[in-house]
Amino acid sequence: MDDLRDKYIKLISEARDEAALEDLRVQAVGKKGEVSLKMRELGKMTPEERQAAGPKLNALKDEINSALTAKKAALADAALDERLKTEWLDVTLPGRPRRSGTIHPVSQVTEEVTAIFADMGFSVAEGPQIESDWHNFDALNIPGHHPARAEMDTFYMHREEGDNRPPHVLRTHTSPVQIRSMELAGAPLRVICPGRVYRADYDQTHTPMFHQVEGLAVDTDISMANLKWCLEEFVKAFFEVDAVELRFRASHFPFTEPSAEVDIRCSWEGGTLKIGEGDDWMEILGSGMVHPKVLMAGNIDPAYWQGFAFGIGIDRLAMLKYGIPDLRAFFDSDLRWLRHYGFAALDVPTLHGGLSR
Ligand code: PHE
Repeated sequence: MDDLRDKYIKLISEARDEAALEDLRVQAVGKKGEVSLKMRELGKMTPEERQAAGPKLNALKDEINSALTAKKAALADAALDERLKTEWLDVTLPGRPRRSGTIHPVSQVTEEVTAIFADMGFSVAEGPQIESDWHNFDALNIPGHHPARAEMDTFYMHREEGDNRPPHVLRTHTSPVQIRSMELAGAPLRVICPGRVYRADYDQTHTPMFHQVEGLAVDTDISMANLKWCLEEFVKAFFEVDAVELRFRASHFPFTEPSAEVDIRCSWEGGTLKIGEGDDWMEILGSGMVHPKVLMAGNIDPAYWQGFAFGIGIDRLAMLKYGIPDLRAFFDSDLRWLRHYGFAALDVPTLHGGLSR
């Protein structure tokens, strides 16, 4: 018994990991372990022998078990020490403040515009930014020779030499989404289409990429009066005032007849932009009754249906509402500008909760 004891105490003290320890436990005090087998022999002994051997065997078993437990704890401590040596953290370092990001004014205004028109029954439609020549121009009654093509300062996509198909363009307005919506859903129809548009132009109120939201309503009894009411309602809701001074100016677009452009009274005094006062006007949208040829391009019968359409400059609205004087800064990604003009991420604009705060 002393031999057994010496053997196992030594092996346990030398065990390198938990697995080796478990092997030893099975070998010594497991069901078929050496100590357990010895205990079975007790049955063959005389009562006197048993009285002497029994307690000793039990004591041996207890001793081995506690040696195993102690070694197991020691191994776990050593493993933890090893981890602590490699995985340390300097809690005395200064903390890093986390600034939350902000919503860009263009995103904010897009959400506001969407909330207002959704309330009037318009749903949101989208189209591609790389647009076919046909959707961007021909379908909107702007044929190949039309001066509007040149006026729009169009960006054309690269074409392989010898490829004589019309080139794709970066859409110059959101009006092609009118055609795509008509093709897709037919009449009656009420959609707004917000998105990016592109023209080669750059100054304080123009950038080569900017944002528009198109509106299109097609039904059997749509008139210019509906258009005017809708736009006035929109402008009042958007600027959160009871009255705004608007100027409807007779105009011309190939895809509407008649057409009107809408300006809003503003002032640039001292370099800051204010709405509702001053002697300046800023053009914010183009509109009109959808040209019969445009309805036809969208597979809608102009003998039965009419519609109005408008295209609003989203960036212009943001400049006016939030007093941002230079459009170019919108797209500079200057963090100081974004923190100053940005909106809290969780203030989603709704008509009942308030568009802006
Ligand atoms: N597409 C025109 C533009 O970009 C705006 C517009 C849209 C005018 C719809 C009339 C109707 O200038």
